[in-house]
Amino acid sequence: MTARTRRVPASVPADAGSEYEVVIGSNLLAEAAERLQPFMGTGPVFVVSDAIVHALYGEALVTGLGEAGNECVNLVMEPGEGSKRRAVVGDMQDMAIAAGADRDSRVIALGGGVPGDLAGYLAATLLRGIPWVQVPTSLLAMVDSSVGGKTGVDTAAGKNLIGAFWQPQVVLADVGTLDTLPDAELAAGLAEVIKYGVTLEEQLFSDLEDGLLESCLARVPEALALVVERCVSIKAAVVAEDAREANRRQVLNYGHTVAHGVEVAASYTLRHGEAVAIGMVAAARLSEERLGAAPDLAERIASLCARAGLPVDLPPGLSVDAVVDGTLHDKKSRDGQLRCVLVQEFGAVSPHEGNWSHPVTVQELARVLGHQTSTTGR
Ligand SMILES: NC(=O)c1ccc[n+]([C@@H]2O[C@H](COP(=O)([O-])OP(=O)(O)OC[C@H]3O[C@@H](n4cnc5c(N)ncnc54)[C@H](O)[C@@H]3O)[C@@H](O)[C@H]2O)c1
Ligand SMILES: [Zn+2]
Repeated sequence: MTARTRRVPASVPADAGSEYEVVIGSNLLAEAAERLQPFMGTGPVFVVSDAIVHALYGEALVTGLGEAGNECVNLVMEPGEGSKRRAVVGDMQDMAIAAGADRDSRVIALGGGVPGDLAGYLAATLLRGIPWVQVPTSLLAMVDSSVGGKTGVDTAAGKNLIGAFWQPQVVLADVGTLDTLPDAELAAGLAEVIKYGVTLEEQLFSDLEDGLLESCLARVPEALALVVERCVSIKAAVVAEDAREANRRQVLNYGHTVAHGVEVAASYTLRHGEAVAIGMVAAARLSEERLGAAPDLAERIASLCARAGLPVDLPPGLSVDAVVDGTLHDKKSRDGQLRCVLVQEFGAVSPHEGNWSHPVTVQELARVLGHQTSTTGR
C-alpha cells in the first residue's frame, strides 16, 4: 500500500520567516532530488549521514542530486549517540570549508536524530548559518526532531548542552525508509508517539490501542504516514502555542524526568524511547496518586508500551535509588526540586501554578518506581 503524500506546516512564531513544510509519504526518497531542487543553491551540498543510513540511502540521494546539477560532498559519521560531539562537528566544519563551502551551500541531514542534530548544528554554524533540509529516516526523527529547530551536540557534562535553534527549509519524511529500521529503534520511536497520545490527543492513544500500533509495527506505510502526520501536527501546535503561552513545550517532557534518571543510572545503555516508556508509566502512577487520575491510566499506558516491545519497569540491576539520583543530576532540576509533567486524563496535561509540571518529592518518585507493573514479562 502506498501512502498518499501529506503536508504539515511547521513554524516557530518567535523565529520570523521560519515556516516550513514537513512532507510525509512513502516514496519520497526516490523523488528527493527533484523535491529538494527549490531549496538547493549553486554551491556544494553537504550530505550528513551515519555509515548505516549512508550505505542504505546515501548513494541514491547523492546520485539523484548530482544528475540535477548539485555537487555533493558526503560527510559520514559512525552511527550512534557517540558521534554527537563537538570534535565530529569540528571535523565536518573543516571538511566543508576545505570543499568550498559558501553562502550558496546547503546541508542535508539524512538519517535519525543523531545525524539530524549534528547536520542542523553544522548548518547553523557554517558561515554563521546556511540553509539546510532534513530527510529523517528513523521514526523518532520524523515525529520529534523534525519540528522545533533544535540542533546541537552532547558534552561530557550531559546531552544536548551545546547547540542552536536553526529551522530547516523543508523536511522530507519518507516512511518507506522505516522498512529497514531495526525493530527496537521503531519501538523507541513509538514511545514518543504514545507520549503524544497520552498528553495531547486521547483519540491517537485509543487508535493505537485499537490496532494502529500493530499496523505501525508491521510497517504498513499508510499507518506510519498517518501517525507521523498526527504527531508532527501535534508538536507543531505545541511549539506554536509556546510563543503565546510560556512553557507550553514542557508538556512534551511527559515521562522524561524519570527517563533522564533511567538513562543516567543505566549509563545510556537503554534507548531514549525505552527510558521514556518507563518514565511515562511512573508519571501515570504519580498522576493517579496526586490528581486522582483514572485508576487504569498507568495500566493502559504500560499495556500499550508492552505491546510495542518497550520496557515498563526498571530493568534488573537498576535500583530505584540510582534512578532517583539520576533524576537529581538532570540539568533541569539543579535546584534539587524534581518536577514531573502529570496528566489529569488522556489528552489533558494538568497545569500547576502557571506551569505544566508539578513539584514531586524524592519519596513519591521512589514509591512509584518501586511498584512493579502486571504487564511485565511480556
Ligand atoms: N532536535 C530535536 O528536536 C530532537 C528531538 C528528539 C530527539 N533528538 C535527538 O535524536 C537522537 C536520537 O535519534 P534516533 O533514535 O533517530 O538516533 P540515531 O540517529 O542514532 O538512529 C538510531 C539507529 O538507527 C539507525 N537508522 C536510522 N534510520 C535507519 C533506517 N531507515 N534504516 C536502518 N537503520 C536506521 C541509525 O544508524 C542508528 O544506528 C538523540 O541524539 C536525541 O537527542 C533530537
Ligand atoms: Zn524524548
